[in-house]
Amino acid sequence: PLTARVNDRDCLEIGGCDVSALVEQFGSPLYILDEYTLRSACRQYQEAFAQFYPGESQIIYASKAWNCLAVCAIVASEGFGCDVVSGGELYTALKAGIDPKHIYLHGNNKSRDELQLAIENGCTVIVDNHLELELLVDLAKTRSNAPPIQILLRLTPGIECHTHEYIRTGHLDSKFGFDPNQLNDVFSFLSQQSGIECIGLHAHIGSQIFERQPHQDLAGVLVDWWQKAVSYGLPIQVLNIGGGLGIRYTESDDPPTIEEWVKAACQAVVQACEAKGLPLPKLMAEPGRSLIASACVTAYTIGSRKVVPDIRTYIAVDGGMSDNPRPITYQSLYRAILANRMSEPFQETVTVAGKHCESGDIVIENISLPTTNPGDILVVLATGAYNYSMASNYNRLPRSAAILVHEGEASLILERETYEDLIRQDRLPARLMQNG
Ligand code: LLP
Repeated sequence: PLTARVNDRDCLEIGGCDVSALVEQFGSPLYILDEYTLRSACRQYQEAFAQFYPGESQIIYASKAWNCLAVCAIVASEGFGCDVVSGGELYTALKAGIDPKHIYLHGNNKSRDELQLAIENGCTVIVDNHLELELLVDLAKTRSNAPPIQILLRLTPGIECHTHEYIRTGHLDSKFGFDPNQLNDVFSFLSQQSGIECIGLHAHIGSQIFERQPHQDLAGVLVDWWQKAVSYGLPIQVLNIGGGLGIRYTESDDPPTIEEWVKAACQAVVQACEAKGLPLPKLMAEPGRSLIASACVTAYTIGSRKVVPDIRTYIAVDGGMSDNPRPITYQSLYRAILANRMSEPFQETVTVAGKHCESGDIVIENISLPTTNPGDILVVLATGAYNYSMASNYNRLPRSAAILVHEGEASLILERETYEDLIRQDRLPARLMQNG
């Protein structure tokens, strides 16, 4: 899906920009985001909802996948709202100019300040638990003559799916959302509040999911709960099915297309509503990974090599678990290519190591590549989701820069951190200062 080609220098070109030239200009590691690919994933979602859902729909970007000003601005210009999970993500989305009416605040332990920031800007809160409901009731009292605070209720649907244990959220033993046993209490509590208005229900079952059945089942569960909520007189019009569609990281990954996934979910909602004689809700989804993962690559410069006789050869790159913590966290698999000699045949199998002081800092185990030399450019594919957003300064590596490429133009969207940036928040108590 990347707008990639091999140019006459035998180099990889993305969005019309030569990757080695980008590394020369901006350094490495470098996140390279292809605007066209991101926009086309947005359009695939929009078109699929328009085609398969006869009612109103709204798609919001789960910005935890990659939250920064430029990415928020691009998805907003495609008509997407935004899901944020902290004051920091919310602040960024607001600064990017996203219409607050289309910003939804998530989180299982929102602070009073985070709730306040969302409310005073007119965002919708996706309420996770009782404490939060009480905080909201309290905050509502401080707003005289203001319209009620609009909320969605997040529920734990009890749906299992096959994905990594850490990124499963819909099973009953999850820290997110109200347990189905609490539903009657919550609905009854909400029906007595004037300062908060529950306009919808939300559930999310997990991430990097390849099956369609879990979201079809979820549609049925949400519609059942909706029917119950209506019996309490709650003004619910929105059902939000979360995100979760997986992407292809390696040859063996076989996720449905965006169109197939949307079609399955929409049809399940329509069927469930018909069966219960309910009108169609406004249907929401909040994809993250499937919008942005494939639109970005990370370019690294290759450095040292270590041959462990009869076992393996390591080649090291100039980043690793600080710019992509997914392999060490979830044992995630990635593909990579040698970007500066694209047509050279594979000659060896190597393990790509990061540069961090940790043996587990491996980017890719056992990958076939041409014989590489120091200074070669290795491009790891599909790093748009949960890479920058989970990046760290481990070992005090400055965070990498990110470049947006489009039709031959390269624009800096995240400046590379400097050593100065690294000590910006450091404070040295006077008694520790040397030489006065
Ligand atoms: N909505 C909610 C409430 C979520 O918790 C998530 C992801 C999404 C939407 C977006 O899901 P997506 O479409 O991206 O699958 N760091 C992990 C993934 C964590 C996902 C957290 N929640 C990883 O790198 O795989």
